[in-house]
Amino acid sequence: MPNPGVLARYQGLLNLPEYTRPVTLLEGDTPLIPVPRLAEDLGGGFDLLVKFEGLNPTGSFKDRGMTAAISEAAGRGVSTVICASTGNTAASAAAYASRAGMRSVVLIPQGKVAAGKLAGAVAYGAQVLQVLGSFDDALSMVVSISQKHPIALVNSLNPYRLEGQKTGAFEICDVLGSAPDWFCLPVGNAGNITSYWMGFQQYHALKGTGLPHILGVQAEGSAPLVLGHPVDHPETVATAIRIGRPARGEQALQAAEESTGRIIAVSDDEILSMQRQLAANGIWVEPASAAGLAGLARQVRSGALNLRGKRVVAVCTGHGLKDPDIITRTMRVPQVLPPELEALESAIIG
Ligand code: F0G
Repeated sequence: MPNPGVLARYQGLLNLPEYTRPVTLLEGDTPLIPVPRLAEDLGGGFDLLVKFEGLNPTGSFKDRGMTAAISEAAGRGVSTVICASTGNTAASAAAYASRAGMRSVVLIPQGKVAAGKLAGAVAYGAQVLQVLGSFDDALSMVVSISQKHPIALVNSLNPYRLEGQKTGAFEICDVLGSAPDWFCLPVGNAGNITSYWMGFQQYHALKGTGLPHILGVQAEGSAPLVLGHPVDHPETVATAIRIGRPARGEQALQAAEESTGRIIAVSDDEILSMQRQLAANGIWVEPASAAGLAGLARQVRSGALNLRGKRVVAVCTGHGLKDPDIITRTMRVPQVLPPELEALESAIIG
């Protein structure tokens, strides 16, 4: 059966109002890709699969929650939506809003959004505004304006976003027949970790699919949940998770605790190194998306996690195409050849 989009596929399992009017780009149904060579590199003896969310319509996992939030908004006649974003939410909100015939406004931290995301938001027709501040500043501004004007907030403070994002957990259980033993993902504003835990719990209650231990991973320069306090000036190369005051922070900590998992931080070098390792397995993700696996690697290396005989699923949240700058900035400019066979031979054979 062709994929009907996550709302239609999991109708009845998502807590959305009756008046909801579906707006979909046929998101979801993303592949769960085995990466046995990466598992070997991490010590071997366990199954490792990547849920590649970069293959959603706008290139990130945000489309799952956005179809729900925009569908609810469309059902009650909303004409304008707004969000703060490190980039992916912006592109997704813009795409779904346009699809629904709504206006979208996105507020991004100035100079800290990857080129592919900014271009997406513009291409899909959002009004893009930059704030001289962080994502956290932007979020508090859009929350205030949505309370003052009839503009719908589509950040993950919007409960319907979480309802849509639960479907990632359902899909994993549907494909594997049960939840994995360990489940790892990057954590920024903490909507995704909250949604996955809700989804795994709901499916377990309904179908006895079991519960994973959750490993949430932040970047060291933006790790409020690891430090136990907000970070005023978050920094990391993984701009998607450059967040110092996660809106769903409490729920993220609860998910880690209830699942007997943990939230840890990794360095930018570990993130970029895992991005390269994933690409060496044919999966190019943006830096933030590699954080979950970078955290898993750190835990295995330090002996904090023994995965022998276990099944592990890692969510890679966004496509590498979203953030090409990080690669093109550091690469060697490709060699230029004259249009002659000898030149090609000498370049590749020597
Ligand atoms: N990975 C990517 C690629 C993201 O864009 C984000 C969040 C996360 C992970 C973290 O997910 O916030 O649910 O914990 N991006 C948001 C945005 C903040 O504006 O696009 P989270």
